[in-house]
Amino acid sequence: MRRKLFHAPSCMARLLLLVVVVTVWLSSTAASSSIYFDYEDVSARVNEPVELTCGVEGHFRYCAWLTERGNAFQVEDVHAGLHPGMRAPSNLTHNQCGIVVDALTEIFLGKWTCHVYLTGTTLIAEKTVGKALDCPASFTQIGTECYYIHHENTVTWENAREICKSLNSRADLAVMDDCHQLQLVWHKIHIEYPDTWYWIGGRDRNLEGSWYWVTDEAVDMGIPFWYPARPEGKGECIVLEAFYGYFDDYPCSWNGYFVCQILY
Ligand SMILES: *[C@@H]1O[C@H](CO)[C@@H](O)[C@H](O)[C@H]1NC(C)=O
Repeated sequence: MRRKLFHAPSCMARLLLLVVVVTVWLSSTAASSSIYFDYEDVSARVNEPVELTCGVEGHFRYCAWLTERGNAFQVEDVHAGLHPGMRAPSNLTHNQCGIVVDALTEIFLGKWTCHVYLTGTTLIAEKTVGKALDCPASFTQIGTECYYIHHENTVTWENAREICKSLNSRADLAVMDDCHQLQLVWHKIHIEYPDTWYWIGGRDRNLEGSWYWVTDEAVDMGIPFWYPARPEGKGECIVLEAFYGYFDDYPCSWNGYFVCQILY
C-alpha cells in the first residue's frame, strides 16, 4: 500500500526553505491576478463525485484542467456540457475554473493541474485525486495514507510507539519517507495544532548516526526532510516540528505528541 512518490512542486517548495504559507486559501500573485486554490488533495470512493475547485481574482481569458495522463478539459466546455460526466460546480464564487467529475473512475485518479490563462501570463496550481481508503477507527486519511495524530497528552518516543500499536495491530509511529505525504501531514498539523512537535517513527538505532524508520528502511538525510544542519546530536529520536514542517532530533525520553500510521 505504501509507495514512494516524489511530487516535484510541493517538494520543490520545501527547497525554498521555511516559506510558511499555509492558509487554506493560498493565493499566488502574478501581475494583478491571483489564483484561489485549496491545495488539499481530494479523495473519493469509486463512482462518487469529485469537485475540483479553482478560482481567479482579476480578468482571465479561459481556464483548463490537465490530468497527469495528458487529458485536457477546457472549463468553458465542461460548463457548457460538452464533456459528458462532468459539470460546473453549484457555487462558482471564487471557483470560476472549478469542475465536478460526476463519478470517480480510474482514469480520473492522479494529479490534476488547473491552468488559468490571463493576458500575458498563466497561473497554475495542482492537486491529486485519490481513492478514499477505509481507515480503521481513530485513523483518518491524509493523502494516500491513514494517520492518527495524538494531541491529548505527551509521552516518550517508546510510549508513543506502544500507543500506536495498541490502537491498531497494523499501526506504528508514522514513516515520513515521502515528501508529498510529509507536506500534507505537516499542513494539517500546522493548521490544527501549531507550535509544538510530534514524535514520528525514526531513530538513531545504534546511536551512531545511522537513522532508521520503524520499518527498518534508512531515513533519507538532508533537505527536503530535515531542518538545515540537523540532526545535530541533541537526541536519538525524530520529531516533526509543527511550525517549520521539518525533522529534528530530540532525546527519546522527552514527552511529546505523536503521529501514528497504518503501515502493515
Ligand atoms: C460560495 O462560495 C463562497 C466562497 O467559497 C462562500 O463564501 C459562499 O458562502 C458560498 N455560497 C454558497 C451559497 O454556498
